[in-house]
Amino acid sequence: MVMSVRKVVLSLGLAVGATLAIGAHAQNAASGPGSAPPLPVQKNSCHLQGGALVCEGAATAEVAGAAGTPLAMAQKTKVGTLVNPYQAKEDAHDQALADEGHKLFEGFGCPGCHGDGGGGGMCPPITNGVWIYGDADDTLFRLVALGSVDLQKEGFSRKAIENIVAPMPSFGTIITKPDDLWKVISWVKIQAYENTHKK
Ligand code: HEC
Repeated sequence: MVMSVRKVVLSLGLAVGATLAIGAHAQNAASGPGSAPPLPVQKNSCHLQGGALVCEGAATAEVAGAAGTPLAMAQKTKVGTLVNPYQAKEDAHDQALADEGHKLFEGFGCPGCHGDGGGGGMCPPITNGVWIYGDADDTLFRLVALGSVDLQKEGFSRKAIENIVAPMPSFGTIITKPDDLWKVISWVKIQAYENTHKK
């Protein structure tokens, strides 16, 4: 059976939603209400199924984010106005910042789709200097927090096409602190710089 592109996206959405429901339940049972959950190690991955790319990860941002999460921040802040507080350290290619960001990147399960170095796998590379929606910090924060489906609803569209075209899931409540997301973005930027400027 040959699947149409539309069906691929649809089946992806279903797989993705089911995974989140299970993950959220397990996490609540483990940590109990009120207590800060440990950094969740997400099991995200994409695989080929009947010729279609199927990704399992976080759901798209249907529900309003809990106050203070990256999702809530992306939803309530005017497009173009999110600023990375680590910009100065990022510009200086601060190694401690990069290491911290990379650890978080691994803890949130991003490598399951993008590879541990961000060079891609079943999903597009994120450290090759080709930016699908652009490299503005505001855009990258929104992309990871909202997911690409909701990002596009905010008026963003793909400027570049990489080897794989698929939706990016929302991580805006899985990553609970905007600060952590900024550190991840700084690592992505520093890594991309190194990949494009070093031989
Ligand atoms: C389930 C698979 C999956 C997971 C897990 C995932 N991503 Fe993605 N990501 C994608 C896909 C697919 C795209 C391309 C989106 C598009 O083309 O609209 C993407 C795009 C991106 C981009 C833009 C890349 C570019 O070249 O412009 C960044 C940055 C990114 N992801 C960061 C992350 C981070 C950080 C995490 C972990 C918090 C993460 N991703 C987890 C699938 C995933």
